[in-house]
Amino acid sequence: MRSSSIKSTILSMGISVPSKVLTNIELEKIVNTSDSWITERTGIKKRHILKDGELISSHAIKASKEALERAKLSPKEINLIICATLTPDYLMPSLGILIQEGVGAINAGAFDLSATCSGFLYALSIADQFIKNNPNWKILIVGAEALSRKINWEDRSTCVLFGDGAGAVVVGKSSSPDKGIIDFILGSSSDNWSLLTLKGGGSCFAPFDKRLPPEDYFIKMQGREVFKVAVKTMERVALNLLERNGLTTQDLDLLVPHQANLRIIDFLRERLKIPSEKVYVNIQKYGNTSAASIPIALYEAQEEGKLKDGILTLSVAFGGSFTFGGVLMRW
Ligand code: COA
Repeated sequence: MRSSSIKSTILSMGISVPSKVLTNIELEKIVNTSDSWITERTGIKKRHILKDGELISSHAIKASKEALERAKLSPKEINLIICATLTPDYLMPSLGILIQEGVGAINAGAFDLSATCSGFLYALSIADQFIKNNPNWKILIVGAEALSRKINWEDRSTCVLFGDGAGAVVVGKSSSPDKGIIDFILGSSSDNWSLLTLKGGGSCFAPFDKRLPPEDYFIKMQGREVFKVAVKTMERVALNLLERNGLTTQDLDLLVPHQANLRIIDFLRERLKIPSEKVYVNIQKYGNTSAASIPIALYEAQEEGKLKDGILTLSVAFGGSFTFGGVLMRW
């Protein structure tokens, strides 16, 4: 358990997703799949996908502008931008830099963070450290992904799962020591990384290197194995985080997990013995948007009036590499 009189908190949020929607029925025309298989095995009904030529930076910037407006902050007041992404527009410039340019945050440092689906929670934990040392700082965190550009549209085991989108939050000092980020866990387990990979595009293989099979330029996953590790890991993170803060799952008001698969979320809920009304789910609309999934879920939970003053939330995530994380927060 951590004790500090200064707590950081999420001051405001914004989201943006592409207007183009790809439904399960439309996917039936692209690969050998069915609406009933996707719905039953994943809970996903549709996902938002970038159009040709559309960039994820435009959504990262739009989400950031909304978060800044809601916090009533000028972009010039932002000290740091952390963008969690696996799918930036370019390797250089970073997506963080494009966000800085797009919102006009001329006084901010900006960088990208690569921690797959746990990226947003990693970024939140880093921001928490900065706020404790610099209580007047305002930090913009963005989770943004263009996963449709890294999917093999001939691989039915992955192409039905992912979607594109961006979620942004402004983090600053909490007005009360009783509210804000209580504690977090970050972790990784390198022994399993080969179950979920995206090899092409790094410095090992030059673009279109003939030594690498074409499918390795896209996300490859051994889904069933990943599933098992994901459930166990997220349960362990949730229980550790609660226990070391003298809490139990009964103290939780809302679980806002990474949205990878409804069955993963249901397993987790059952193992933690949390009633379904205390778990936020929006995977049916967006699919798995990786680093964008938790900020989009938090935003929608707030819009639906579920993030009431004083409630205790837990977010847990798990993703490729493998990374995992959890953040416990009082609102
Ligand atoms: N449509 C129809 N059938 C499909 C399919 C699709 N889109 N994808 C796979 N199948 C088939 C498989 O070929 C297999 O057929 P077979 O039994 O004839 O061999 C069958 O469905 C079962 O495949 P399996 O991979 O065991 O299914 P599953 O129940 O494990 O579900 C995932 C697959 C990917 C949905 C699931 O494993 C999953 O969500 N994994 C974790 C994802 C995740 O968390 N990713 C990391 C975090 S970002």
